[in-house]
Amino acid sequence: MFRWLFRKMMALFFPAFPGKRTNSSERARTNRKEVKEKEIVYPSQRVAYKYCVGAAVFFAFQVTLATLAALEFVFPDLPVPLPANLGRSIHVNLSMFWPLLGIMGGIYYVLPEEIGDDLYSPFLANLQFWLMALTMLGIIGTLALGFTTGREYLEPILPLKLAQGLALFIFTLNVTVTLFKRKFAAWHPTSTSLVLGLGLSLILYLPALFFFKNLVTDEFFKFWTVHIWWESSLELIVTGLVTTMLILMTRVDPGLVMKYYYVEAVLVILLGFFGVGHHYFWIGLQRYWVYIGWIFGVLQAVPFFFIVWVSYTATLHKKGLSSNSVAFKFLWAAAIWNLAGAGLFGAVTSIPQINVYTHGTFLVSSHAHLALFGTYGSLAMAVIYFVLVQWEKLEMLSIRAGEVAFWLLNTGLTIMALSLGLAGMLQAYLWRFVGLDFAVVQGLLKPYLAVRSVGAALFAIGAIIPAWDILTNLIFPLPPRAADATRN
Ligand code: HEM
Ligand code: HEM
Repeated sequence: MFRWLFRKMMALFFPAFPGKRTNSSERARTNRKEVKEKEIVYPSQRVAYKYCVGAAVFFAFQVTLATLAALEFVFPDLPVPLPANLGRSIHVNLSMFWPLLGIMGGIYYVLPEEIGDDLYSPFLANLQFWLMALTMLGIIGTLALGFTTGREYLEPILPLKLAQGLALFIFTLNVTVTLFKRKFAAWHPTSTSLVLGLGLSLILYLPALFFFKNLVTDEFFKFWTVHIWWESSLELIVTGLVTTMLILMTRVDPGLVMKYYYVEAVLVILLGFFGVGHHYFWIGLQRYWVYIGWIFGVLQAVPFFFIVWVSYTATLHKKGLSSNSVAFKFLWAAAIWNLAGAGLFGAVTSIPQINVYTHGTFLVSSHAHLALFGTYGSLAMAVIYFVLVQWEKLEMLSIRAGEVAFWLLNTGLTIMALSLGLAGMLQAYLWRFVGLDFAVVQGLLKPYLAVRSVGAALFAIGAIIPAWDILTNLIFPLPPRAADATRN
């Protein structure tokens, strides 16, 4: 009943949506053929399903709340359930959580195919999922009640951070032991970078657990966790996963893409570690950090060209699967936003003469959304559609609904980023250059923030569609006969 209603409503707004079932038979047949073609080979790959469902649901939850927050900037008297600071903490914690959940699911899914054997421990993978999901619920609950350490991005209280660290440890252990089922000499380069990226992430997580009395030292180490993760260790994992998924999806000859992949992986590690210096401009460190952050920050854009090149080469030489258009589109989006939103945008704001104006303005928020959702969020979405179409329970998952979601998310993101970018430029000029009062400038930015809300609404619908489609299919499955009749 709910699914029927949902499909009818969607068909009203989006003619392409498979509410009009009479026209959908051809597409549905393609979907089913595609599912058949790619049936999972190793039973342990199934653990990835719950990671993908979890990622989609937490994503929808995050952006529904965020849209309210965006509206609050335009209508300050709007009744919202949480004070802005706590809402923001929950938002940024979720912003790292669900993309990571999706990416981890993707790794659990491709790993058995990569090594030709099952995962070391599906039990540990399941345990890790529940540990992560319950910890995140704990984080949302405690932050909502006002329990916060006050350290941006690392706000959760210590027991919850320890639980997060434990989950990361279980993941690293499971992946590494699985890879060692194969002789080291036979590892693919992507496997090596995966282990390296995970090991680094684990070490870089340690400063998140401790406080340093000296505020400068504390800020210095704080950036190790979240920001070196994004700009180096996670980026390493992402390049490995994107390359593996492209090889699996297009059946391109791995030799054709690996050479670019090597250059990219090496540059990502080297430049990411020092490039993080652009976060040290304002925290009271020695002056030489300005030069380090500037030079390495600007160079950091270089490796991101390679991921686009790898995607281009794979697309040119694709021999197999192209019917899973959504996953493929999201992979491309991840590569492009990674270059434009993270690399190029980040490089420009790494220049100290520009950063002196842009720091703390909406321009940084524009970069943050483009880079974080653009790269890691898009990759998680690619994984969700790549993996979930294999699940018999989600055989009716609509690829067309996914396409609608893809365009809504990317249009919404572009509108949000452009309006935030323009608001940020005006803010930098009036506040930093002309010297107007912060609050006065904030008032003048309202029209831009109103446009941001429009982008946010589109984006939120784009996030809700996949979650709704997944949940309704899982909670109200069509009886087998009806499913068959609808498909054909
Ligand atoms: C996918 C990778 C990336 C993600 C997810 C990301 C995310 C973010 C986020 C969330 C912020 C806001 C930081 C805060 O509020 O503390 C930020 C700031 C910034 N990022 Fe990135 N970033 C990425 C890559 C890069 C790269 C490659 C560069 C340089 C080429 C860069 C340069 C900067 C700069 C200069 C700032 C502003 C620092 C400031 O003024 O304090 N980012 N980034
Ligand atoms: C409907 C979609 C979204 C809306 C309306 C939204 C809204 C907001 C708002 C109001 C803030 C506070 C700063 C500002 O005003 O810009 C913020 C910050 C942030 N959001 Fe979102 N957000 C959305 C989606 C996302 C997604 C999907 C991610 C990542 C997966 C994300 C990551 C972040 C990060 C990292 C920050 C902190 C940026 C900084 O330090 O400057 N957001 N968002």
